[in-house]
Amino acid sequence: MKSINHILDTALKISDQAAELIRMSSQRIKSFKSKGEISNLVTQTDIETDKLISGTIKEIFPDHNIISEELGANNNNSDYTWYIDPIDGTNNFVHNYPSFAVSIGIFFKDKPLVGVVYDIPNNEKYYALKDQGSFCNNSQIFVSERQNFNEGLFVTGFIPYDEKFIDKNLKVIKNINLNSHGVRRLGAASIDMCHVAKGIVEGFWEYNLQPWDTAAGNIIIHEAGGCVTNDNGNNYNFDKCIVASNNNVHQDFLKIIKNS
Ligand code: IPD
Ligand code: CA
Ligand code: CA
Repeated sequence: MKSINHILDTALKISDQAAELIRMSSQRIKSFKSKGEISNLVTQTDIETDKLISGTIKEIFPDHNIISEELGANNNNSDYTWYIDPIDGTNNFVHNYPSFAVSIGIFFKDKPLVGVVYDIPNNEKYYALKDQGSFCNNSQIFVSERQNFNEGLFVTGFIPYDEKFIDKNLKVIKNINLNSHGVRRLGAASIDMCHVAKGIVEGFWEYNLQPWDTAAGNIIIHEAGGCVTNDNGNNYNFDKCIVASNNNVHQDFLKIIKNS
């Protein structure tokens, strides 16, 4: 296996460069295009940032696989795969709503190895390495110790144009609201997952996310002591539903989702 530290250092450097590009673009007027539905947006900055990230990975690790949201897949049959979301939370970025991030997750033989999520408006850089913990701006982070689901705060997301999953999720949102301290919706799945890792929410769930949304957050939560499953409670493997928590509230969380 290549040095895990070299891979992490590269991912951190790339995320810094990407964040710089996104920050500079923030000062320009943000023109956006729809990818089909009115709320499925892409900006020139999404594409430029994806090119920057993917181009640098290709220079440094030419034999690795890359799967990115805006440029698609580059499969080299490598054991290493980089999942890239150049801007997670594009709609927030367009509206200057302060929750969007660069998300870079690296898998080795289909298992999470390294994750970096750079929450740009809040200047919080989260990262994790397998077996070496999770960090936010160089301080180690841990999931919350709260035991009772009823005393937890939760966060979710939904693709605004995906009617089937909105209907399903509205029921879950109702039931979690009625049985906890409440539900938040910020609009960037990678950041929501880092909030579980940091212990400021007890859990996160969402339907129909893509690998680039969750690849980095997955290891950041695991290394902070939490768990990430599907709605059956099996280890999350890019399933239709992701359920992530501090572990303690997980069984109650799954029950509410299943029964909604
Ligand atoms: C979206 C965000 C959002 C989530 C959507 C994602 P994008 O990613 O993560 O929080 O609810 O499901 O598609 O399109 O802004 O990269
Ligand atoms: Ca995304
Ligand atoms: Ca994106």
